[in-house]
Amino acid sequence: MIVAIDGPAGSGKSTVAKALARRLHMHYLDTGAMYRSVALAATQRGIALDDVEALATLAREIRIAFEHDEVTGLPTRVMVDGDDVTLAIRTPQIDDAVSAVARLPQVRAAMVPIQRDESASGGLVAEGRDIGTVVFPDAELKVYLTASAEERARRRHIELADRGELIGADAVRERMDARDTADSSREAAPLAAAKDAVLLDTTGLTIDEVVERIARLAEERA
Ligand code: CDP
Repeated sequence: MIVAIDGPAGSGKSTVAKALARRLHMHYLDTGAMYRSVALAATQRGIALDDVEALATLAREIRIAFEHDEVTGLPTRVMVDGDDVTLAIRTPQIDDAVSAVARLPQVRAAMVPIQRDESASGGLVAEGRDIGTVVFPDAELKVYLTASAEERARRRHIELADRGELIGADAVRERMDARDTADSSREAAPLAAAKDAVLLDTTGLTIDEVVERIARLAEERA
């Protein structure tokens, strides 16, 4: 079974998808980490974010790998060409750079087959922006997570502060809005709910409540 979880930044996708994968004993795939990895590699190599050719080549050539915990099966580290980039792909700088890379069809064409391969070894919970629409259009369960803009910005602000990133709440909101607008308005695989997705507004819900609801849907469709 494939569970596709899409939604904007701060909607709770990662936390919920991980908890769900654990509960359902399924694999977990964070597709955003892959686009973030391409953006990081581009920045490190001095590739301009409008150099389409160089970005396309980079996306085809870098080797992105997820290391997993032996007990929980959940990913512990994201590796790019053998380097641990787990923390480096979550900085505000990469937040700001990633949409420019992810909008390129050539970059997406390099990532999507790798994402599809992840479903070969059994059940999968995959999260991103185009999982239900493009990557796994036949997923048995599609969920589109949302939350109010205030709530999403609040969550991201706390997350960044926990990591020692001192950014004001207003700046977090502005940058998040800019990324969501870029992701939703691009031509290639824009952020959108699939027609057959279950819409779930997580504002005011706890993580456990969201996981419980999706797990029940998954059990009904298994
Ligand atoms: O955690 P957050 O929701 O903020 O972002 P993410 O899931 O790590 O995704 C980072 C960025 O990657 C998004 O803003 C999109 O530009 C891009 N992305 C995408 O284009 N397609 C996906 N399936 C996943 C992410």
